[in-house]
Amino acid sequence: MKNLFDVYPLYDITPVKAFGSKVFDESGREYLDFYGGHGVISIGHSHPNYVKAVSDQVSKIGFYSNSIQNPIQTGLAEKLCAFSGYPDYSLFLCNSGAEANENALKLASFHTKKSKVIAFKKAFHGRTSAAVASTDNPSIVAPINAHKVIFLELNDQKSVLDELQKGDVACVIIEGIQGVGGLDEATTEFFQFLSSETKKYGVVLILDEIQSGYGRSGKFFAHQHHDIKPDIISVAKGMGNGFPIGGILISPEFKASHGLLGTTFGGNHLACAAALSVLEVIESENLIQNVNEVSDYFKQQASEIPQIKNVKGRGLMLGLEFDFEIANLRKSLIYDFGIFTGNASQKNLLRILPPLSITKAEVDFFFVGLKKAIGKIVEPQISVP
Ligand SMILES: Cc1ncc(COP(=O)(O)O)c(C=O)c1O
Repeated sequence: MKNLFDVYPLYDITPVKAFGSKVFDESGREYLDFYGGHGVISIGHSHPNYVKAVSDQVSKIGFYSNSIQNPIQTGLAEKLCAFSGYPDYSLFLCNSGAEANENALKLASFHTKKSKVIAFKKAFHGRTSAAVASTDNPSIVAPINAHKVIFLELNDQKSVLDELQKGDVACVIIEGIQGVGGLDEATTEFFQFLSSETKKYGVVLILDEIQSGYGRSGKFFAHQHHDIKPDIISVAKGMGNGFPIGGILISPEFKASHGLLGTTFGGNHLACAAALSVLEVIESENLIQNVNEVSDYFKQQASEIPQIKNVKGRGLMLGLEFDFEIANLRKSLIYDFGIFTGNASQKNLLRILPPLSITKAEVDFFFVGLKKAIGKIVEPQISVP
């Protein structure tokens, strides 16, 4: 530990293997994964098709730079664009969510020759320079990340219009559903307003689907619930089911030129084999349909728990709102009941991001644990005379 730069608060748990929605620690204890390591696990841990695809690929060729023909990369681009409903868009591949947004913001700036970004309150877009500057958390923005970004309230049409009219805006960046910020989502009216007004003012609309994409919301992309077509869509997390890969889907309005964007590792053979296998499993196992079915079941179960005041989000990107801070509840769920969940910047919100393959039986198990954990955390407080 002494040689690691200590930036992460850690739970005292050491996972050594995982399968489906289950994670096992070094003592053999089993955990149910309702968080997927920040919403990364899409098709389930160590899915056999995925393990085979990655193993077969690494035994042939794992990497070569972007200077040769790579049919796995072109195959992934074709499959992703078609399956997501964007067959005429093109794909640029990189290695993480932040990098995807960084490239999206950069491309918007190249395209418009402008530099101002409109982002939204409580947004999280990653930690690279322009991405972190577009993130509404000053404590993680360094002086070197000096970009022109303005943060507006979600759904505030007038403020957006005032900014667009100034003529210096390159792009608007918005999450399909806010993740880290606490599962808030713009209204359909606001998404449609952004879509039409950005077009009118020649401004690029970037949809950050890094967390909300890849089927998690119950459609391939969360913005598809609102019937809009953004100019650039950023993806990562569920795309590789744990293998680091990210990318941007780019509308045909943008002209590519050699050297405009680039990366050494992005789009390598191994990453593309992993990402291709993820899409194949999402399709063959009808995981988006499963998201919708299990989501309804989950919400129905949640509605029977009086301490849950509200359920935010869509599909299997959900936030359970309590009228108390959830830090101890989350700890009890992990240590006492073997269930991983997540938190958000909204302190009374428990974040739920299970694999898209989660079953109703696993949801039952979750709620048994949750009820017991609530009893442990809340009832002792209520019963104090
Ligand atoms: C919406 C959103 N955008 C961007 C990112 C950054 O992704 P990464 O951590 O892969 O850089 C995240 C990560 O949580 C995210 O939730």
